[in-house]
Amino acid sequence: MVGFLGTFLIIATITTIAKSASITTFNKAFKPLYGDSNIVAYEDEGSVEIAMDESTSSGFHSKKMYNNGYFETSLKLPNSYTAGVVVTFYSSNNQKYPYRHDEIDLEFLGRPRGGRWSLQTNFYGNGHVERGREERYDLWFDPAEDFHRYAIRWGPDMITYYVDGIPIRHVTKVPSMRDEFPSKEMRLYGTIWNGSDWATNGGKYKMDMSYGPFVAKYSGFVMNGCAFNETGAARDCGEGGPEIRGLTREERVRMNGFRRKWMTYSYCYDKKRYPVALPECVFNSKELRHLHKIHPKTF
Ligand SMILES: *[C@@H]1O[C@H](CO)[C@@H](O)[C@H](O)[C@H]1NC(C)=O
Repeated sequence: MVGFLGTFLIIATITTIAKSASITTFNKAFKPLYGDSNIVAYEDEGSVEIAMDESTSSGFHSKKMYNNGYFETSLKLPNSYTAGVVVTFYSSNNQKYPYRHDEIDLEFLGRPRGGRWSLQTNFYGNGHVERGREERYDLWFDPAEDFHRYAIRWGPDMITYYVDGIPIRHVTKVPSMRDEFPSKEMRLYGTIWNGSDWATNGGKYKMDMSYGPFVAKYSGFVMNGCAFNETGAARDCGEGGPEIRGLTREERVRMNGFRRKWMTYSYCYDKKRYPVALPECVFNSKELRHLHKIHPKTF
């Protein structure tokens, strides 16, 4: 097992180095959304810090909207007691389509005392927020200790979420999902906010501002998407365009290895919530066995 994990980490490092070509800066691709006084951009690094203190939370969004693409950031989370704190990198169009919005989420849920940050992935299509598709994972490193790369690859019929180049979740659209797969142009967002109601152990542990201000730092943005154009002109997918592709055999092996070790929740196996699994769910007995060990009542 140690050998496997070692190999895993070396491959992740090599991927990090190979990927640096298409990095853009915060100021080029993004602008503040709210809590401007708590947003500090470092132009020379292309990075940004967003903070939450007594006065405000904060967030930014991409200047452009995109139809599909590969979106990545390197992120370092606040390193203190952070129960209740939520840090995000996600895509949404809720401002443009308030009642039928699409969304693809990477959300970090703050850590309780002695615990760890949890990563949650989710997506919504066309305003169907009544059907969440959450998964949660522990990570094999402390995301508050250093920068790590997190990415979303979104195509017309697939979504892949990545941590340090390793796919951790791959969704393939199936026809019976109807409009519950994200299909309209979206912006990318980064935010930090108070999620005390639900974020840490379902809201059991609240945010404690005496450990604040909470600061998240984003850098290494890769915004390799098809920029949306209101005039309906041909898709502007930039140089070479985003690589919309499925998983290689090797990536699938690594993803499965990650999931049966680090996944802590998946809606696909939550029988109380979805007595009939949602149509895109692909049953994997090793994942089920792993989740059952963690929470036999739920899985
Ligand atoms: C955080 O949210 C919780 C729940 O909504 C609320 O009770 C609490 O006052 C908030 N804390 C701060 C500092 O805003």
